[in-house]
Amino acid sequence: MKTITVNASKTYDVIIGSGLISSLPTLLKNAKIDGKLAIVTDKTVHSLYGDKLILALLGYDYSLYVSEGGEECKSGAEFLNILEFLAENEFTRSDVVVAFGGGIIGDLAGFVASCYLRGVRFVQIPTTLLAMVDSSVGGKTAVNLKAGKNLAGAFCQPDLVVADTDVLSTLSTDDFKCGMGEIIKYGMIFDENLLDLIAKGMNDNSEEIIARCVDLKRIVVEKDEKDHGDRQFLNFGHTLAHAIEKQTNFAIPHGQAVAIGMRIITAIAVKRGICKAEVLTVLDNLLEKYGLPKSIDIDNATLYKTTTVDKKRKGNSITVVLPEHCGKAVLKKMKIDEWKEFITEA
Ligand code: GLY
Repeated sequence: MKTITVNASKTYDVIIGSGLISSLPTLLKNAKIDGKLAIVTDKTVHSLYGDKLILALLGYDYSLYVSEGGEECKSGAEFLNILEFLAENEFTRSDVVVAFGGGIIGDLAGFVASCYLRGVRFVQIPTTLLAMVDSSVGGKTAVNLKAGKNLAGAFCQPDLVVADTDVLSTLSTDDFKCGMGEIIKYGMIFDENLLDLIAKGMNDNSEEIIARCVDLKRIVVEKDEKDHGDRQFLNFGHTLAHAIEKQTNFAIPHGQAVAIGMRIITAIAVKRGICKAEVLTVLDNLLEKYGLPKSIDIDNATLYKTTTVDKKRKGNSITVVLPEHCGKAVLKKMKIDEWKEFITEA
């Protein structure tokens, strides 16, 4: 078991290890989290692990909200449904929202926790690799709007994150790939040693790799919780990824879209002499090893147009993460015209 303590506007532990769901009462007690629990989950996670969670939480007063799941439930309508559910079940300020699922459930339930009664405590129990290494840590919560992904949301740090690695055994191949997309991202922007570890394989190293990613995220979030500076490094490949997700109506899931986004940016960076070709080779080898897509049948001009409504756009400019070496990236603020040229005329 590994524990990483995040010292952001709130201090909280991220606990990673095998069998942690069964230890939830102790972990909640250690974190001084009591009160009634509003468990928000989706149908898939509920059918696989609902009984296990409920058994572990025997003795707790809880209400269970089971969402359909999928990107479509990350909506304003579902957000309001859960708020109404909390009110109907008379949840108070001393109670706790528990997100039990992947990144979609974490983002949705976290946004609910940030708004219900102007904010209640919030526990993340991520059940996908992507949620363990990225979305459950750092307090970004959101729902999608028609115009794009994550366009309404709030920063709401959790009070505790419990990542039980046992649940990864039932992860679908697609979800595993999505997690690997984000894990490779951490290596590419921050940590060449992590790239070596990823190249060795996840089987014997998964707890170490997850903990390393969480620790890299901790460092960034502690420096720049509100995403004005270094946290933007985590957006490597993401501006294009969000455009790909939108263009494909989410048929390409987030982590796989990130893989394509990183690949497009890195290929352009090589062409423009920003990084050496070997950086692209390392990225390609890892994407291939984990069965991640490297391209998509949408032209860059179309992708560019979709990126102009991305929330990472600030006024007339956008900050792009560019790879410099393996394990090192730079932030480059580009005017929208410069970004258009970068993407479409490489
Ligand atoms: N997933 C990017 C971030 O948390 O900033």
